Amino acid sequence: MTTFDVPADATPAADSGALATERFHSDKSPFEAVKDTPRERVDLLAREVLEAVHATIRKHRVSYDEYNALKAWLIQVGQDGEWPLFLDVWVEHVVEEVATDHRQGNKGSIEGPYYVPNSPDLGPVGTMPMRPDERGTRLVWNGTITSTDGTPLAGKVELWHADDDGYYSQFAHGLPEWNLRGTFSTGADGKFQITTIQPAPYQIPTDGACGKLIAAAGWHAWRPAHLHVKVTAPGHELLTAQLYFPGDPHNEDDIASAVKPELLLNPVPQPDGPSTVEYSFVLDPVGS
Ligand code: DHB
Ligand code: FE
Repeated sequence: MTTFDVPADATPAADSGALATERFHSDKSPFEAVKDTPRERVDLLAREVLEAVHATIRKHRVSYDEYNALKAWLIQVGQDGEWPLFLDVWVEHVVEEVATDHRQGNKGSIEGPYYVPNSPDLGPVGTMPMRPDERGTRLVWNGTITSTDGTPLAGKVELWHADDDGYYSQFAHGLPEWNLRGTFSTGADGKFQITTIQPAPYQIPTDGACGKLIAAAGWHAWRPAHLHVKVTAPGHELLTAQLYFPGDPHNEDDIASAVKPELLLNPVPQPDGPSTVEYSFVLDPVGS
């Protein structure tokens, strides 16, 4: 098992968890979108999930001690505000797979708990907001947004990612509000150029309920280094994705199971400046 190297001033899980929970609630009620769901579907989904739990209990003869530990742990996930973390790490990737399997363009990856809308708009060419002494390898990324038929699209790339210590602004202490969060709006040619830093591999918080499960099961808490994006254009399906870096030891065993081969970047180090990378997005027209 990997040992956890948590700095003494690390943001406690209960803080980042509470912030992630607050963020999730702040947009709109998630119940609104499902308010017309027929009772038959609620019955079917709830029943089959419970039947899967019952089958596991029978198969492995789960004891009362184990049942009580589960109960205490579930209560702690809520108290630590870690439901967004738990669900986005261990469940979301399958929801994403089902939601995008019809696409001809990019299929994408999970959103995770740390997206914040309305980051500063930097136009088609810009540098991500960052501290003057921001650590990490500089990266210049060129790409184009197109439709599945190849037409360039005037759209937006919203980019957010962790810093060189694995922290996201607005979910950790001491970072400027929009650090490493920006929106790049393309013109009719669909082209963008983004300057940023390469983020570090990221450990999901290890001192809360999720960390307790990871330690008890002998898992590790790592996600490979990744850039998060949301790509939009009028008349096209929203693409939520993550992009990864070749050679990261956790590309093969991401705790969130969110790496796909087509999401690997290919940065090219340059002798006299930042690494350069090319990666473009293809969006599916709505209803195609
Ligand atoms: C989690 C964090 C991430 O940065 C991510 O991309 C996915 C999941 C998490 O802590 O749950
Ligand atoms: Fe992330």
